[in-house]
Amino acid sequence: MTNPFVIAIDGPAAAGKGTLALRLADHYHLPHLDTGLLYRAVGRIMAERGFDLDDGELAGQIAAALDPDDLKHPSLRGHEAGEHASRVAVHPQVRAALIAFQRDFAGRAPGAVLDGRDIGTAICPQAPVKIYVTASPEVRARRRTDELAAKGRDVDYERILAEIRQRDERDSGRSTAPLKPAEDAVILDTSDLDREGAFTAAIAIVDDKWRARRVG
Ligand code: CDP
Ligand code: CDP
Repeated sequence: MTNPFVIAIDGPAAAGKGTLALRLADHYHLPHLDTGLLYRAVGRIMAERGFDLDDGELAGQIAAALDPDDLKHPSLRGHEAGEHASRVAVHPQVRAALIAFQRDFAGRAPGAVLDGRDIGTAICPQAPVKIYVTASPEVRARRRTDELAAKGRDVDYERILAEIRQRDERDSGRSTAPLKPAEDAVILDTSDLDREGAFTAAIAIVDDKWRARRVG
């Protein structure tokens, strides 16, 4: 039997990973897992209970006890939840506790689309397709600002840009599974691409890998 066809989408905040992953999952009829939700759920539970986000032991225990229903909480998509997520995501105990769930999801036939920070490097290093979606910090901050403004939130572009830079630094600088492209990832810079352009480019990458797999 062939291995499941896994599409790994990684990249920094607001690069368009989630939007692209959803489109690809729909197009290829594959299930999708937004792995950021796992870290967001751990961060939310820690913050809600008043726990110290820097306590790796405790955060690891919360991660190990995570229930799929915890991923459905409406507040998880918020901007603040992303900040809490990146703080608990530095802990090796948290990352280790979340590996099995992600690999189990990726391992089911016929395959899956997963988006996050370390899918191609740590969770699914054998994935046949790895796309590292990126864009300049300024473009990403503009996208996030517009997104929040569309939801009626009063947001300051400069503040969002500073937060994005800080999150990039934390995600890339951590010692366990830092944010970086896998050696065999295709880099997709969407700074000058709209959603449609990014989707078209991604399809070309996936189809290319799919053909190579059938031939090889
Ligand atoms: O998942 P990630 O944080 O990487 O980004 P996202 O939530 O999928 O996208 C952030 C915002 O950028 C959304 O409002 C998208 O509609 C928009 N966008 C995009 O996803 N792709 C582009 N090429 C351009 C904009
Ligand atoms: O949509 P956005 O990129 O802003 O956030 P997200 O993908 O939901 O991820 C939130 C935070 O979780 C990131 O800043 C990372 O610190 C962490 N994360 C991670 O470490 N590994 C993953 N596979 C996914 C998310």
